[in-house]
Amino acid sequence: MLKLRGLAKVYRVGSFGGGRLHAVRDVDLTVHPGQVVSLVGESGSGKSTIGRMVLGLIPPTAGTVAFAGADVARLRGHRRRKDYYREVQGVFQDPFSCFNPVFTADRVFALIRAEYFPRATDTEWRRRIAGSLDTVRLDPAQVLGKYPHQLSGGQLQRLLIARALLLDIRLLVADEIISMLDASTRIDVLNLLGDLKARGLGILFITHDLSLGNYISDTTVILRRGRIVESGATTAVFDHPVHPYTRRLLASVPRLHRTWAQADADLAAGGVDGGCVGCAGRSGGGHPPVEVAVGHLVGCFDDGA
Ligand SMILES: Nc1ncnc2c1ncn2[C@@H]1O[C@H](COP(=O)(O)OP(=O)(O)OP(=O)(O)O)[C@@H](O)[C@H]1O
Ligand SMILES: [Mg+2]
Repeated sequence: MLKLRGLAKVYRVGSFGGGRLHAVRDVDLTVHPGQVVSLVGESGSGKSTIGRMVLGLIPPTAGTVAFAGADVARLRGHRRRKDYYREVQGVFQDPFSCFNPVFTADRVFALIRAEYFPRATDTEWRRRIAGSLDTVRLDPAQVLGKYPHQLSGGQLQRLLIARALLLDIRLLVADEIISMLDASTRIDVLNLLGDLKARGLGILFITHDLSLGNYISDTTVILRRGRIVESGATTAVFDHPVHPYTRRLLASVPRLHRTWAQADADLAAGGVDGGCVGCAGRSGGGHPPVEVAVGHLVGCFDDGA
């Protein structure tokens, strides 16, 4: 459904735009209906840049973003872009910044109505909103007519997901949507994403927190400095991490059944068996990803980063 191929983004940086920052390099990634793919990496690894390219907010420098076969960068004109956003929506980290404090929070629904459902009757529209709020487990009486400051971060985040669900979306780009929520609300929102997945929605779940990605995703993609270093079924990546960077990330996640001493020991063991999976004695690095098990791809250990 969503296919990224050879995707790259270079930003011009510096006072005269003379510098180049390779924020995303050669990323291949696929999201199928009903599949949650988590994109994990430390701050600055290019996760949001990928999300923004998927949402057509910035153009790729190279490579393609295709949704249902159509190249997103070539969606010209209001109508075609509008049709794209009927199927693909994004929700971002800071729910507060998405609301205008001067208006009640449910104004975000009215904007969707004006753009996509101008002919809906009041009754139809109310029913649609009720359905959407029900899906995100919000009580209409608690949120409708309220100002953003009267609602919690979790409620606002769910309102934004409800807004996306007013449209019959097929793909949700969720960029750090739970980082700003407290622990109990996080689980609620993660469970909600699980429900959406069960309804067939594809979700690109962007997070810097490996333990959150693990909770709902089928596939995990580990990004480092704009490049995919490892990807595969979440269970494979978590249980048999191969790339030293993935191992380091995993070792830094406290897990219930492992002590820190065990984590350190695992890490040390990872260093011993040593060399890159794909270089096989060659020097220089930079080989294409190697398939270490079915669907489990590992990039070069020495990727020039
Ligand atoms: N508009 C821009 N102009 C120049 N550089 C940018 C721009 N946006 C992002 N960058 C740089 O590109 C790199 C990747 O940024 P990006 O926001 O994609 O990272 P991220 O993985 O989402 O990080 P975080 O976890 O902090 O959100 C960073 O080095 C960032 O400074
Ligand atoms: Mg980001």
